[in-house]
Amino acid sequence: RYSELYLYRQDNVILSGTHTHSGLAGYFQYTLFMITSKGYLKSSTQPIVRGIVKSIDVAHNNMKPGRIFLNKGEIVDSSLNRSPHSYMNNPKEERERYKSNTDEQIVTLKFTDLDGDGMGIFSWFAVHPVSMNYTNRLVSSDNLGYASYLFEQEKNIGSLPGEGPFVAAFATSNSGDVSPNTRGPYCINTGDKCDYLNSSCPVGGTKMCAAFGPGDDMFESTRIIGENIYRKAKELYSKAEQELHGSIHAAHQWVNMTDVTVQLNSTHNVKTCKPALGHSFAAGTIDGGGDLNFTQGAVEGDPFWDGIRDSVLGTPSKDIQDCHDPKPILFSTGEMNRPLPWHPAIVDVQIITIGSVAIVAVPGEATTMSGRRIREAVKQELEMHNSFTNTEVVITGLCNIYTHYITTFEEYQVQRYEGASTIYGPHTLSAYIQHFRGLAKAIVEARISRPEPPFFTNVFPLLGEPPVDKVPENTTFGQVLEQVDSLYKVVSHAGFNLVHKMDSLVLRGKTFITVERFHNSSGTWEVIHTDASWETRFHWIKGSGGQSNATVEWHIPLSAAAGTYRIRHFGHYKKRVVITPVITAYEGASDVFQVSKTLYSR
Ligand SMILES: *[C@@H]1O[C@H](CO)[C@@H](O)[C@H](O)[C@H]1NC(C)=O
Ligand SMILES: *[C@@H]1O[C@H](CO)[C@@H](O)[C@H](O)[C@H]1NC(C)=O
Ligand SMILES: *[C@@H]1O[C@H](CO)[C@@H](O)[C@H](O)[C@H]1NC(C)=O
Ligand SMILES: *[C@@H]1O[C@H](CO)[C@@H](O)[C@H](O)[C@H]1NC(C)=O
Ligand SMILES: *[C@@H]1O[C@H](CO)[C@@H](O)[C@H](O)[C@H]1NC(C)=O
Ligand SMILES: *[C@@H]1O[C@H](CO)[C@@H](O)[C@H](O)[C@H]1NC(C)=O
Ligand SMILES: *[C@@H]1O[C@H](CO)[C@@H](O)[C@H](O)[C@H]1NC(C)=O
Ligand SMILES: *[C@@H]1O[C@H](CO)[C@@H](O)[C@H](O)[C@H]1NC(C)=O
Repeated sequence: RYSELYLYRQDNVILSGTHTHSGLAGYFQYTLFMITSKGYLKSSTQPIVRGIVKSIDVAHNNMKPGRIFLNKGEIVDSSLNRSPHSYMNNPKEERERYKSNTDEQIVTLKFTDLDGDGMGIFSWFAVHPVSMNYTNRLVSSDNLGYASYLFEQEKNIGSLPGEGPFVAAFATSNSGDVSPNTRGPYCINTGDKCDYLNSSCPVGGTKMCAAFGPGDDMFESTRIIGENIYRKAKELYSKAEQELHGSIHAAHQWVNMTDVTVQLNSTHNVKTCKPALGHSFAAGTIDGGGDLNFTQGAVEGDPFWDGIRDSVLGTPSKDIQDCHDPKPILFSTGEMNRPLPWHPAIVDVQIITIGSVAIVAVPGEATTMSGRRIREAVKQELEMHNSFTNTEVVITGLCNIYTHYITTFEEYQVQRYEGASTIYGPHTLSAYIQHFRGLAKAIVEARISRPEPPFFTNVFPLLGEPPVDKVPENTTFGQVLEQVDSLYKVVSHAGFNLVHKMDSLVLRGKTFITVERFHNSSGTWEVIHTDASWETRFHWIKGSGGQSNATVEWHIPLSAAAGTYRIRHFGHYKKRVVITPVITAYEGASDVFQVSKTLYSR
C-alpha cells in the first residue's frame, strides 16, 4: 500500500508481540507451532494481518508533527524470577552489579503533538504476561494488555476499547525468566514448597508445582499486575520532561542463526547450532507445568522418552547432540523439515534509534541477564561514535519472528525450561550480541542486507472445514436459552445463554457482544461495552451435532449508571445450500433489564 513512497519497510517497522497464552493459534507456519492448532488456520491469520495493516493505516492517516519525552521508573512488586537457580549460575561479579534478579525498570516514551496534547505512550517492562493460567479458555491480552486497556480507556473518554485517538502500547522486554505470579511456586496438592532445583513436588511432580498471586484467582492477578504497570506508566507519563532530539535510524538484518561463528577471544571460535529443544522444554515452568513426567534442570536424557523420540522422530545426529551439550535433546527440530521446517533458521535482528533511545528488537524471549548483556553491548557500540551519548537501550521482545528463549551461556548449563528452549545452543546469546553490535555499527556507518527467509505458501491446514451449524427443533440461531433477571443491583453479574455458532469470522472492529444502555430522552441504545471490555466475558461452548451455546456475562461494576440495559450477541452460522456452504449473520438479544444503585449499607 505504501510501496510507492517506500515508506514502511523491513528495516523501519518492528512487529513486537506482547505475549499471551490466551490468544489464537495457527498463524506461524513453522511446523512445531502448527501442532497445537492442528495446522494452519486462515481464520486466525487473516484478522491478525488485517489488524496490523489497519493499525499502520490509522497511524499513517493520523500522522502529525510532535515531540517525544523519555522517563524511567521502577516497579518492585510485580515480577519474580522463575529460574533463580539458573540466574545464580551467572558470574558473581556480574550479579553483584544488580540489586535484583529481575529488571524492575520501566521505560516509557511519551508522545505529544506540538501543542503538548498527549497522543500516546510506549512502555517497556519485563514481565511474562501469564497471569492467566492454562485453565483459562477466554481470549485475553493478559496483564500488559490490561495495562494498555486501562490507559487507553482513561485517555479516550467515552470510547469503546480499541477506539479513540490515544494509543498506549505496553511492549514486552527481557522477561524470559520473569513470572508475574508473585506469591511464587508451591505444591497445589500438599501446600509444600516446590523443589528449588527442578520445580517439582514430592507427590505429583512438575504438574503440581505452580506459582500464584498476587490475586486470589487468575482474573484478579491479571488485574493487579496490569494496574501496577498502568499506574507507574501513568505517573511517568505525567512527569516526563526529558525530550528526545536528533534523528531516527533503523537497521535490520536477516541472520542464519544455525550458522553463526562467534569469536570468543583471539584463539577461540564457537558456533551456534541447528535448532533443538531439550527435555526440560517439556517440563514447562512454574507458570504452567507440562503434562508428562519431565522436570526442569534435566542435563541427562530419559531412556523412556528418548526411546519414543527415536522411534517416532529419529535419533538426533551426533553433531547436533555435541553442539547443544549439555542439553539432552528431545526434539531435534533442525533436522525435521516435513511437511515444513519445524523451526526457523533465518531470523530477523533489528534496531531502531530515536534520538538517544535505541530499541533493540529481539526475536525471542531473552532472560533478565541476557537482556542486560545485549543492552550493555549495544550501548557501548553506539557510544563509540560521538553522535550517541547517554544512550537508553531498551529490549523489545518477541519481535518479527519467534525463536523461543535466549539464556546466557551460564544459565544454559543448568537446563531449566529457558535453557532447554534456547534453540540455537549454548552460544545463542553471544551470536545475538555479535549481530546487534553489528547493527549498532551499521546505524552509525552504512546499511547492510542479507538473504531473506522462506515465505511458505504451501501451508498445511489439518483441521478441515467446520461442520454446518444446527439448532434444536423449533428454535432459531440467536434464541435466548436462559434469560437475564429483570433487576440487578450493583455489584452483581448479569448472564445469559444463547444458541449460537461463531463460525470463525473473527473480524477486527467487530464484537461478539454488546452491553447497551437505553437513553430515554432520545429513545436510543448506546453501546457501553464490547467483548474487549474487562467487564464482559463471552464463552462459546461447543456441543455435539453442530449445536453450540454461547454465554455472555457482564460483571456489573460499581461505576455502572443505574438505568435500563440489554445485552446483544452477534454471530454467524453455516448451512449448506445443496453443496455450497453459506455463512449467515444472526443476532440475539436479552430481555431489557434494570440496574439499580440501591446499595445496602451497614
Ligand atoms: C527433584 O530434585 C530433588 C532433589 O532436589 C529430587 O529428590 C527429586 O527426585 C527430583 N524430582 C524429579 C522428578 O526428578
Ligand atoms: C488457575 O487459576 C484458577 C483460578 O483463577 C485456579 O482455580 C487454578 O487452580 C489455577 N490453576 C493452576 C494450575 O495454576
Ligand atoms: C543456514 O545454515 C545452514 C547450516 O547450519 C545451512 O545448511 C543452510 O543452507 C543455511 N540456510 C540458508 C537459507 O542459507
Ligand atoms: C579463550 O577462550 C577459551 C574458552 O573459554 C579459553 O579456554 C582460553 O583460555 C581463552 N584464551 C585466551 C587467550 O583468553
Ligand atoms: C517417566 O515415565 C516413564 C513411564 O511411566 C518412566 O519409564 C520413566 O522412568 C519416567 N521418568 C522419570 C524421570 O520419572
Ligand atoms: C415443533 O413445533 C411443532 C408445531 O408447533 C410441534 O408440532 C412440534 O411438536 C414441535 N417440536 C418440538 C420438539 O417441540
Ligand atoms: C421515559 O420516557 C417516557 C416517554 O417518552 C416517559 O413516559 C417515562 O416516564 C420516561 N421514563 C423515565 C424513567 O424517565
Ligand atoms: C445448551 O443449552 C441447552 C439448554 O439449556 C442444553 O440442553 C445443552 O446441553 C447445551 N449445550 C451445550 C453444548 O452446552
